[in-house]
Amino acid sequence: MSFPKNFLWGGAVAANQCEGAYQEDGKGLDIQDILPHGFSSPPTAEPTSGNLKLKAIDFYHHYKEDIKLFAEMGFKVFRTSIAWSRIYPHGDDLEPNEAGLRFYDDLFAECHKYGIEPLVTISHYETPLHLAKKYNGWASHELIGFYERYVRTLFARYKDTVKYWLTFNEINSVLHVPLTSGGIMTPKKQLSLQDLFQACHHEFVASAKATKLAHEMMPDAKIGCMILAMPIYPLTPAPDDIIAVMKADHFNDFFGDMHARGIYPGYMKRFFRENGIELKTTEEELRLLRENTVDFISFSYYMSICEGTSGQAGIGNILGGKKNPYLKDSEWGWQIDPQGLRYILNKYYDRWQKPLFIVENGLGAKDELCRDEAGDLTVNDDYRIAYLRDHLRAVNEAIEDGVPVMGYTSWGCIDLVSASTAQMSKRYGYIYVDRNDDGSGTLKRYCKKSFYWYRDVIHTNGACLTAGKTR
Ligand code: BG6
Repeated sequence: MSFPKNFLWGGAVAANQCEGAYQEDGKGLDIQDILPHGFSSPPTAEPTSGNLKLKAIDFYHHYKEDIKLFAEMGFKVFRTSIAWSRIYPHGDDLEPNEAGLRFYDDLFAECHKYGIEPLVTISHYETPLHLAKKYNGWASHELIGFYERYVRTLFARYKDTVKYWLTFNEINSVLHVPLTSGGIMTPKKQLSLQDLFQACHHEFVASAKATKLAHEMMPDAKIGCMILAMPIYPLTPAPDDIIAVMKADHFNDFFGDMHARGIYPGYMKRFFRENGIELKTTEEELRLLRENTVDFISFSYYMSICEGTSGQAGIGNILGGKKNPYLKDSEWGWQIDPQGLRYILNKYYDRWQKPLFIVENGLGAKDELCRDEAGDLTVNDDYRIAYLRDHLRAVNEAIEDGVPVMGYTSWGCIDLVSASTAQMSKRYGYIYVDRNDDGSGTLKRYCKKSFYWYRDVIHTNGACLTAGKTR
């Protein structure tokens, strides 16, 4: 196994899926507070008691205990997001909320206590609700200014404690789940292509501004974009299927192209022309995009999908597609494809020639608590170990192929609330949290079998993945 010596092993979460404390210490509401059933169901008018995210796993009060467990596994990096509405409760406030800033001071200090580098997502599906209601989220150009103010505050405060930054979680998802991803209240069916691509443009400009500011304010920091990666395979070798794949790929690669190359690609200009889309922009914005490309590309990877003129619709992580007859499904219908990770790492590096960071990957599965030999509660999650092991072997293959991979943070390193379905029972963690879909549970934490397995992986810098040394 040839993982680089300084490979950043770790885990990832997002504030809205783990912190809870949705109104504590001056936090304002965000869009997740009104999405009790995930992103496919309509929002509620107010936060409702059935919304698990309001309390989530109460990471806000348990973070010391949780980070200690991450340190026991040997994490080098911990990815989390900052909840924008803890810092600017309405999003358009003039002054930040000191109590919110202090929470993240403490959280990052706790990470550093164990030598864990924080990796921060600036915006992870948690736009302040006020920005969604008053401005229609990223559909509005005004969001760029509010985001810039927020980002400036973060960089000024955390420049000495946070080295790795991501501008928007899964930025390409805004085309598919505009409320969750972009805080856009207008129902998707009523949004025109013009509205959607204009919103993308606003996020690109905001991302470039953040990149410029990061480079000016924190010369040693690294800032990247974050893409939902889902390799698309042709259903058949029919040329029509190949072209269908190419076209579907364009709508994802576009987001990396904008961040790595800084110019609108020809295929998108054609799409805009043929669909009557005229982006409102300025020379200054276009220059900003060109001159401020990212330091690295990060992405989530859970599954691949197919495209073609025939075939049966598949269930995808946000992006749709056709089912692959050669792959097995997870309990939630996501098709498991470790080789797709090697494929996408190679593809992204060939295309963008930037270091890559896998910031999400994992298996959402139902877990059952049981007793181990010592009588302690645990979960025998061999299925999760198998999933992660196969994906990490694929990462290693890509490294052997010459792809520079900075690190790997598996998703939901501690159980948290699912983004798509808002369930607790869709668990990803190495650490089980006693909370159920009906909200009951003690919130106690238990180490699963995968906890000890991942500890060995990190401890051996991946060598045990081939040695078959699993506990
Ligand atoms: C990604 C998101 O799409 O997938 C995460 O960035 C999310 O927020 C993860 O939790 C897994 O999806 P789900 O729906 O199983 O929680």
